[in-house]
Amino acid sequence: MRNWQKATARDVRDSFLAFGRKIRKKELEIGRMHYALGLAHGVRQAIHCGYDKLVAVELGVAAGSGLLSLCQAAEYFRNEFGMDIRVYGFDSAAGLPELAGYKDHPEVWWEGQFKMPDPEELRAKLPAFAKLLIGDVGDTITEFESEIADYQLGFIVVDLDFYSSTTRAMKIFEMNPLRYVPALPLYMDDTEVLISQNPWCGEELAIQEFNNNHEFRKIERKSHFWAIHNFYVCHVLDHPVRTGETRPRLPFEIRAF
Ligand SMILES: C[S@@+](CC[C@H](N)C(=O)[O-])C[C@H]1O[C@@H](n2cnc3c(N)ncnc32)[C@H](O)[C@@H]1O
Repeated sequence: MRNWQKATARDVRDSFLAFGRKIRKKELEIGRMHYALGLAHGVRQAIHCGYDKLVAVELGVAAGSGLLSLCQAAEYFRNEFGMDIRVYGFDSAAGLPELAGYKDHPEVWWEGQFKMPDPEELRAKLPAFAKLLIGDVGDTITEFESEIADYQLGFIVVDLDFYSSTTRAMKIFEMNPLRYVPALPLYMDDTEVLISQNPWCGEELAIQEFNNNHEFRKIERKSHFWAIHNFYVCHVLDHPVRTGETRPRLPFEIRAF
């Protein structure tokens, strides 16, 4: 659908229902299913708002299989909609940092785990629209808002394992509201799957603290009704589309697909 700027709400809905069906049935294989579905929910919002420049991010890259998978999905939607979709990966390349107590789940993880074997080798495999940012995520995230200037974040994967690292990365949700789609789709990897994960530790605690400290940004777990593994949304409540300041081109009657 190259002419999506003129498409009706029904055309867009039907086209994304078809993507959802094909991705879930594996008739359309564009990398990890939950990444492809998460990004599709960002692309759909971009179409409703009239945005044509999107950014997808993976926080925590390790050897790069997730990042390459995200690139595969981005490549598909770039071609399908003629949109400029960039992909960014953030990692220290050194593996997990020093643990900061029980909140980082030392019963599960250890320092140095998931070390990136060779950043240059991974960079060589990335398409031109993707970039790997090496360094502690708390530092690299600081410059990110200027890096993505007139783009909108359309999908974020959070896979940093630790409470301490996730908390440092939360700055990614504190940018100007215009840097996001209004209901930013997230894949939060490290919540509730393991028996010792809980709301008082790890990613779940980082989310809870973030929500407590931000009036206009709220991260919500979407129910199983959405049937996307680890699917969350960051509600950008001060986005002009959500304050009523700007009408979206197509109304936000967006259900699970
Ligand atoms: C589980 S691995 C990521 C796996 C990857 N998302 C995938 O699915 O292929 C977690 C990664 O987070 C990175 N990481 C954790 N804390 C970090 C921090 N504070 N700064 C940068 N990278 C960090 C580690 O280096 C590690 O590679």
